[in-house]
Amino acid sequence: MLIKKPADIKPSEITPETVYRNRREFMTEGGKLLLGAGLASAIPSLAFAQNGDKLKARAPANLTRTPPSAWMKDKFADIKAAPDMEPYFTSEALTPYTDATRYNNFYEFGMDKGDPSANSSEFKTDPWSVEITGEVGKPGTYTLEDILKPHALEERIYRHRCVEAWSMVIPWIGFPLADLLKRFEPTAKAKYVEFETIVQPDTMPGIRSRFAIVRWPYREGLRMDEAMNPLAFMAVGIYGDYMPPQNGAPMRLIVPWKYGFKGIKSIVKINFRETQPHTTWNDLQANEYGFFANVNPNVHHPRWRQDMERRLPQTLFSRQYIETKLFNGYAEQVASLYKDMDLARYY
Ligand code: MTE
Repeated sequence: MLIKKPADIKPSEITPETVYRNRREFMTEGGKLLLGAGLASAIPSLAFAQNGDKLKARAPANLTRTPPSAWMKDKFADIKAAPDMEPYFTSEALTPYTDATRYNNFYEFGMDKGDPSANSSEFKTDPWSVEITGEVGKPGTYTLEDILKPHALEERIYRHRCVEAWSMVIPWIGFPLADLLKRFEPTAKAKYVEFETIVQPDTMPGIRSRFAIVRWPYREGLRMDEAMNPLAFMAVGIYGDYMPPQNGAPMRLIVPWKYGFKGIKSIVKINFRETQPHTTWNDLQANEYGFFANVNPNVHHPRWRQDMERRLPQTLFSRQYIETKLFNGYAEQVASLYKDMDLARYY
């Protein structure tokens, strides 16, 4: 991945500490107090809608998104809150909503961290359909509504570790990937699952750019047993709210024990395969980005170390470096998937 040196990061990309601290306090302590007092619904500026009192995290009311459709609004009316325990929850401080939605990687909208939020307002996500192909009993093209219909939404608070050595903590809204994949009845030959992002050149300046380095569509893939692990998640929202375009609307993959580039955004195709699929970053630079891409502090990127990470947000004056954990702290849930593998070889 192309990385900016800290010196190249524009001050405008950085939220002053006082601002994010205030926001965080507002979202946690303030929110709790108001909710505890039963006042939230009485204060229009907070407008905690629907089941906001149960969820662990909400987008700030003045930043919440308009519902993409009536059926999606209904779907979001009932979301199961994250439990109080790992692995579907972490007590580590949440990344403020504004940072999670303004510091993004989504090369279809540009290569700078601020490009996806700045350039994605025209992105069209309704109507949306997903093509299911390959080694399955039930191939076809399904509308997003059909895809989501049987799945109850839940909140999961996961660590999100980018291969570029920054990390966040994000409250995702979605449902287990395994539940979705099983519905299409994978055959015995389905050993891998491949995902593709939409190519929408009229709304995606990164795709039109002559400087684009990615061969579109963006592709990712998982081994079938990885995809079936209960941690793998299809997300349709963040912070109790609909997924913003820059974060991968309307539906993106979350694989919290892997580097963020496995978390393909704005999915329009799921292909079940017998053989390992080609994936975007592995095709571009195989010696730097493996197919597995498991978070691993012992296997360094050829150009930088992977045993520490910068927990965002940061300021020019204060940077929080923390130790990176094997499988991003989810070893108990996933280490068995790789028990006979040399993780330095299959990085
Ligand atoms: N999906 C698509 N289609 N295009 C991309 O450029 N970037 C990946 C991943 N999914 C990317 C993508 C990378 S490198 C990361 S780290 C995460 O999205 C970033 O997700 P976030 O912006 O929600 O933090």
